[in-house]
Amino acid sequence: MEPIETVSVDYVVVGAGVAGLRAAIALAMAAGNRDQPRIWVLAKDSLAESNTRYAQGGIAAALSDEDTVYFHLQDTLQAGAGLSDPEMARILVEEGVQRVEELIEWGAAFDRTGGRLVFAIEGAHSRRRVLHAGGDATGQEIVRVLMQKAQSLPAIEFHEYAFTMDLTVTDDGRCGGLLALMGPGPPRLVHVCCRGVVLATGGSGRIFRYTTNPPFATADGLGLAFRADLPFQDMEFFQFHPTALHVPGAPHFLLTEALRGEGAWVVNADGERFLFRYDPRGELAPRDVVARAMFLEIQRTGAPVFLDTSPLGESFARERFPRVTQVCAQFGLTLGRDRIPVIPAAHYYMGGIRTDAWGRTALPGLYAAGEVACNGVHGANRLASNSLLDGLVFGARAGQALWEDTQDVPVPKHVPLPAPYRKPSPTALPSEPPPFPDLAWEQCGLIRTEAGLKTALARLSEWLRTWPYPVPVRWAMEALNAMQTLSLLAGFAYLRQESRGAHYRADFPTERPEWRRHQAFRPSDIGYSVLGVGC
Ligand code: SIN
Repeated sequence: MEPIETVSVDYVVVGAGVAGLRAAIALAMAAGNRDQPRIWVLAKDSLAESNTRYAQGGIAAALSDEDTVYFHLQDTLQAGAGLSDPEMARILVEEGVQRVEELIEWGAAFDRTGGRLVFAIEGAHSRRRVLHAGGDATGQEIVRVLMQKAQSLPAIEFHEYAFTMDLTVTDDGRCGGLLALMGPGPPRLVHVCCRGVVLATGGSGRIFRYTTNPPFATADGLGLAFRADLPFQDMEFFQFHPTALHVPGAPHFLLTEALRGEGAWVVNADGERFLFRYDPRGELAPRDVVARAMFLEIQRTGAPVFLDTSPLGESFARERFPRVTQVCAQFGLTLGRDRIPVIPAAHYYMGGIRTDAWGRTALPGLYAAGEVACNGVHGANRLASNSLLDGLVFGARAGQALWEDTQDVPVPKHVPLPAPYRKPSPTALPSEPPPFPDLAWEQCGLIRTEAGLKTALARLSEWLRTWPYPVPVRWAMEALNAMQTLSLLAGFAYLRQESRGAHYRADFPTERPEWRRHQAFRPSDIGYSVLGVGC
């Protein structure tokens, strides 16, 4: 490995999606002009890319005349299948209203008619409360506004193509910074020392064969937290979005839940609206219910299932869902007229690095927010359109808390490198990663069994034993992050002997009252007994 360069700044935020940007803004605003700190925001890819950018349907907030935060809270708790933490959910829906109003003040152009905000309905919402922008480009608009705000704050410096490999820890046990491969161009391995870090690395969908997430959603924050042996929570709960485009040669592009909210139907190859056989709420049942019903119907019939968009009509579909219309057209499909072939696909991780209500992790100086974090707000299944809200609310809280907790902490002068970096042993890099996305899909997906999870754990253990580490090559570290995260998913899922929310065990097909509790472990708590995988 090349010699490691060292840089000192005050803070680092890893990730430039909704949670990372909002955390950086809160941190810079809390510090104010007097104590202007140096805040680095690291984006793994170009600044234009983040999981947030791909969010279509919208952001839920109790802002309409027919809604209240109480109704939003009830829907959030109900969707969470008994595991959504009531205090975290209360914070989400109450502060969510302020955070969205603030976003509007900063210039977010949510869709309106006659000057009034338009609210959509999605699965498991009892009221119309989902704001959207550009029809189906809500994430893009939110990133635009947050980026503009962050760029107006002189404390914040952006670094693109900066891939975080690992955290570093001071001799007295604080997070002392991180090691990042800094681009663009040939990447340099840089040790960034600082007073505190916010991890907001986003999604993990690329663990699975089929996912709505972009190629860079490879569980990076979870992987580096695994190697730091931090506590994780709810890692068995991975949400599958019911409707991803499923056409040979096409990416599994998200077909927003709002399509069903506006009237599109899910049908089998005979044209039957079969969801009512599984749940009386049909297309508007919670996401886990709809996704599992579709998966079972595909298994039962051996034929594909479809989103019948004809109830929308072509002109409404074009106007309301311009981006989906355009993508479908690329594959010869007309939104508002055709039946679109769909499949449930990995979409959102409810589990993550365990945090408190302010994003604090078990490692002093390290905070986490957004999809990489878990404070229990979403329980076993996230309510549609609560994820952007989560990033805004808990991102802001993490930035604020980081400032309050560390304003008197000096930037550490000496931070040791993790042991494997001190004497890296040269290992040949395999030509490609093991087929973990297939393993994840087949054994750890919508329907799980003890035997399947054991198979997954055994294969992961074998693959991880020989996978090179540390290696300053992004794709190799991404594969490591994904496999370590998947080993946690499989281990947590193996231990939970019931079905609840997004976690379905064919060998324990019902909810069991004694399991109405969260699981939280450090990798080392279960890593070498249940998981059989280390690094
Ligand atoms: C969608 O538009 O269906 C995705 C929004 C979400 O994941 O909540």
